[in-house]
Amino acid sequence: MVTKLEDLKLNKLISEEELQTRIKELGCEIDKYYNGEEVTVICVLKGSVMFMVDLVKNFTMPMKMEFIRLSSYGSNMTSSGKVNAVDISLPDLNDKNVLIIEDIVDTGLTAKFLLDFIALNFRTKSTKFCSLLDKKCKRQVDVKPDYYGFDVDDVFLVGYGLDFDGYCRNIPYIGNAV
Ligand code: XMP
Ligand code: MG
Repeated sequence: MVTKLEDLKLNKLISEEELQTRIKELGCEIDKYYNGEEVTVICVLKGSVMFMVDLVKNFTMPMKMEFIRLSSYGSNMTSSGKVNAVDISLPDLNDKNVLIIEDIVDTGLTAKFLLDFIALNFRTKSTKFCSLLDKKCKRQVDVKPDYYGFDVDDVFLVGYGLDFDGYCRNIPYIGNAV
C-alpha cells in the first residue's frame, strides 16, 4: 500500500479528453432535463469541485451554487464507514430543484447521508444526485445516482478532485495508485 506521496505512481485510467467529453455530454443532458427551471447545485467539497465547475458550464438555466463539506475517508484509502458533516450549512431549499454533485459514489453512505439530510430538512421541488464516478461493486447501501459519468472498479482513484491525503486534486486526469 502506498503511504507517501513520493511513492505514489499513477496509472492513467480516464484521460482529460475522455473526462471533458463525457462531462459535456452529461451537463447537456441535465440542462435539457431541467428545461429552463432554476436549480440549486450542491457541491460536496472537496473532491467534487473540479467536476462541478466543468459540469455547470453546460447549464443554461438560472442556477445557484452551494458548497458543503463532508468527510468519510480522512487520510485513509478506504471509507471509515462513518460520514462526518464538517460544514453542512445550506439556505432554505424548500420548493427548490436541488442537484447534489459528488465526485464518486463508493459504499453509498455519503450519498445516503446527504439524501436523508435533505429529505429531513426540506420539502424540495426535486432532489437529484449526480456523481462523476460510480464504484458500484463497493455499495453497502441501496443508492443509485440519477446521473453519473463513468463506472469504475474497486481501485483507489486520484486526480481531477480526488485526492491522496489531500494531494493530487489538480491532476487533470483520473488515475489509480499503483
Ligand atoms: P462513500 O463510501 O460514502 O464514499 O460512497 C464517498 C466519498 O468517499 C471518497 N472516495 C474516494 N476518494 N479516491 C478518493 O480520493 C477513491 O477511490 C474514493 N472512493 C471514495 C469520496 O470523497 C467520496 O465523496
Ligand atoms: Mg467526496
